[in-house]
Amino acid sequence: SGARRRVLRADLLDFVADPGFVPPAEAPGVRHRPDHRVLIEGDRIVAVRPAAAGWQPLPDDPPALSAPELAAWAQVPEEDHRGRLLLPGFIDTHVHCPQLDVIASFGTELLDWLNTYTFPAERKYADPAVSQAGAERFLNALWAQGTTSAVVFPTVHKCSAEALFEHAAAVRMRLVTGKVLMNRHAPDGLRDDVEQAERDCVDLIQRWHGRDRQAFAVTVRFAPCSTPEQLVMAGQLAQGHAGVYMQTHVAENRDEVRWVAELFPSARSYLDVYDRDGLIGPRAVLAHGIWLNDEDRAVLRAHGAQIAHSPSSNLFLGSGLFDWPQAQQQGVNVSLASDVGGGTSLSMLRTMGDAYKIQALQGHRLTAWKALHTATAGAAQSLGLSEEMGRIEPGLLADLCIWDVAADEVARHRDNLASSLHERIFAWLTLGDDRNLVETLVAGQTRYQKKHAA
Ligand code: GUN
Ligand code: ZN
Repeated sequence: SGARRRVLRADLLDFVADPGFVPPAEAPGVRHRPDHRVLIEGDRIVAVRPAAAGWQPLPDDPPALSAPELAAWAQVPEEDHRGRLLLPGFIDTHVHCPQLDVIASFGTELLDWLNTYTFPAERKYADPAVSQAGAERFLNALWAQGTTSAVVFPTVHKCSAEALFEHAAAVRMRLVTGKVLMNRHAPDGLRDDVEQAERDCVDLIQRWHGRDRQAFAVTVRFAPCSTPEQLVMAGQLAQGHAGVYMQTHVAENRDEVRWVAELFPSARSYLDVYDRDGLIGPRAVLAHGIWLNDEDRAVLRAHGAQIAHSPSSNLFLGSGLFDWPQAQQQGVNVSLASDVGGGTSLSMLRTMGDAYKIQALQGHRLTAWKALHTATAGAAQSLGLSEEMGRIEPGLLADLCIWDVAADEVARHRDNLASSLHERIFAWLTLGDDRNLVETLVAGQTRYQKKHAA
């Protein structure tokens, strides 16, 4: 009786420390456990055991796992993924649900792109039916890429946040979102006002924050779209409600940075527009942060805020090259994000591949270890959720993905020639996509499964 039990058998890969920007062979924190069993009960990981140990008691077993209990576990049909990788599900720290409608739109930089494609598309989410269908399509698409948790922008419409909360809560997926605040420099149908926005946010906090793995984020679109009065209100919301997040964009594009300087002449910098109203705290997630200065990075560090680095979007919109090692050296938390629809793929593998190339253009080298840590345990830690997700560990929720190392002939050939674990994993990360994904579990339940070829 009780919660459903599952036993997954595979090669486990997760991270117990930040591998940093050091050569792969010297990187700390890499935990590779070939041929292990993961015991899952209900939504949680109960134990992780080497398959070679069979069902004999081990010194590392949790106290509750007595010999009779182990005998009962031995009766659970094993899900045999030997030779495959089992990783924590990926965490995408900045992505726009409604922008699946404009992903892969041609030809513009940020400010034109917003006006030409994004704002018109987001207006449709005023319709609750569009919001509901969009949220469902979006979450399914995340799972189909191995993403099990996300920090999400909906639209200005309350119903768009509501729809995401409803669908994520129904499957107990860790999701951070909140209705977008924007009361100027946007078309009709896409602006709120300070008082109604505040009422909507308070209502969403009361009904969703802290429930079924949902968390509210004060969601400032970006400084140009909010009046100073709305930013003050946003700061009060962030300060006045324990545990809420804050998400926004900062210093993405040079024209944008110039515009912010014109709109807020008394601010020390773009980041300062947010900081002076109390919006920068340990739960602040700021997308991009390409054009910050040392003082800005010191502010982010002092508050424990994080930059959601969005490499695919930065390349696609021609925004610039984020210097990740510099941010790391100056003590800023950095997570990885798809930023769809500025980004061109929901795949965190593709996102990591793009991050590698952005660092390569600056003479840096991003290891698979650093990239994968950032997309799993690192993101969980910078979101304050490392006791809930990001590693394969007893007591954590079972947000897990099973991957084939190679999905086609070229990848198989390359894999056969690999002579170290990092070489194998780096080739998987670089060549892989959703064809490699076998199964996605969110809180212990299968939410995506690869269709077998006919
Ligand atoms: N800045 C303000 N809004 C947006 C957005 O939707 N996408 C990106 N990439 N940057 C933004
Ligand atoms: Zn964005």
